[in-house]
Amino acid sequence: MADQTTPTLAAAAVSASSPSSPAVPSSQRVLLLHAPKQPYHVTHDYAVPALAHGRELLVRTRAIGLNPIDWKAPDFNFGLPELPYIAGRELAGDVAINTDAASRLQTGDRVLAISTDYRDLRKGAYQEYVVAWDYNTVRLPRHVSYEAGATVGVAFVAAVLALGVNLGVDFSGVEDGPDLLSLVRSLSSSSSSTALPADIRDECLSGIAETDRARPGDWLAIWGASSTSAHMAIQLARLAGLRVAAVVDTAKHGLRLAGHTDSFQSFSSSSPSWQPDLLVDSHDPERAVSILRASLGTKLRFGFDTRGRDTATSLLQALACSPGEKKAPSNPPSPPATPRTSDAGTTPAIESLSLSSSSTAPSPLSHLVGLTGLPKGAPPPGGVFHNVPIKLFHEVPEVGEALSLWLEKLLGSGRLVPPVVVGVDSGLESINAALDRMRAGEISGGRLVVRLEENSLEEITV
Ligand SMILES: NC(=O)c1ccc[n+]([C@@H]2O[C@H](COP(=O)([O-])OP(=O)(O)OC[C@H]3O[C@@H](n4cnc5c(N)ncnc54)[C@H](OP(=O)(O)O)[C@@H]3O)[C@@H](O)[C@H]2O)c1
Repeated sequence: MADQTTPTLAAAAVSASSPSSPAVPSSQRVLLLHAPKQPYHVTHDYAVPALAHGRELLVRTRAIGLNPIDWKAPDFNFGLPELPYIAGRELAGDVAINTDAASRLQTGDRVLAISTDYRDLRKGAYQEYVVAWDYNTVRLPRHVSYEAGATVGVAFVAAVLALGVNLGVDFSGVEDGPDLLSLVRSLSSSSSSTALPADIRDECLSGIAETDRARPGDWLAIWGASSTSAHMAIQLARLAGLRVAAVVDTAKHGLRLAGHTDSFQSFSSSSPSWQPDLLVDSHDPERAVSILRASLGTKLRFGFDTRGRDTATSLLQALACSPGEKKAPSNPPSPPATPRTSDAGTTPAIESLSLSSSSTAPSPLSHLVGLTGLPKGAPPPGGVFHNVPIKLFHEVPEVGEALSLWLEKLLGSGRLVPPVVVGVDSGLESINAALDRMRAGEISGGRLVVRLEENSLEEITV
């Protein structure tokens, strides 16, 4: 049975802040977690959260994207800063109140809101009205439904920060995208008023050398390529000119990743943006490593793992920094050209050839990003481990704004395709069962979405 919890947040500031706001009720329904390892409870008459900052806005929830953290946090008792807790990391809906008249976001806009700021319960998606930073809110183009919009956010932020900050990919050539590494490094200069959070400062400022940055033509291997984060990472990497090797259970996901789309039931003529350049089956991890090593050899310096410590450890074995029988992939040997007598005098001396190949420049390092775990111990010589500095998105407005604006453009132009919506459930009360399906491993290759019914939103005109 649903609880009747006393409102804990004052709604007065919301209604007082915008006299011209459309109908916003004083109370709402939310899903509360009262204790770890418990189901969530639908709770009526909970106060609509109040805006506390000029850059916050109120969004009326239409669809919620379910993330693994939504079941992992209660099951493993982490990421729960207070109880009762309001979870939910991404949603799509309509701007209900924005007090900033100069904002790019207007009341009534269809938006997606990304709530990486899990410590602030007002921003949890499991409620009918959600507070969001304007710089964490993205307008949805007409062709993207609320359901599709609700799947995009967390995966995009995780992927773009992994590529742009950890691996140094510069997106400025793609729809005027951000050069995130330069952006975060400029924020550490004395002229900037924005401080980088202390626990991610080293990663941002010295995680990767300028000379090591991933550039067009470089290879990136993604282990766990069925995930929504990987779906975003593959597209973003390819847009930036990188080549992608995807390691995945090909029995489950091979056809889709090879370019076969359910919506068209045919192989599309041009390769879809989420199609990797090399598809490797993950069933036998040793074999997968061998394939990566044989195919890419020392060309593989960048890895992104979305599954966990074991697969990140396998992926490390495939990177150029790992010892073993590995050599640069080469073209089939071809015999040297027969020197013509007239060329004899111009044949380069052996000394000058060996001089160029024994350059004293240090070898570039290999970089492994773990979204959900890294190999045990220190990286091997020549390797660097990275965690994704996710809080850049909500704690550093310059980064949040750059990413939200760019995502708006990418969705608008259709260059970024949202993840597959693998199912749509209805109402806050359906979320426990939906999370059980995720726990059981039934949801893969896309996001499960919960739609909030229009008639479940009780309206009171203020
Ligand atoms: N560090 C961060 O800031 C950050 C940010 C975002 C996400 N994450 C973490 O990164 C990982 C990927 O997130 P995501 O949202 O991209 O993943 P996702 O799309 O929800 O799914 C990832 C894949 O995991 C497999 N899977 C599904 N249910 C499972 C279960 N119960 N147990 C084990 N595997 C299961 C499926 O792959 P197959 O069908 O191939 O088995 C699925 O395609 C998650 O662990 C998430 O918590 C971390």
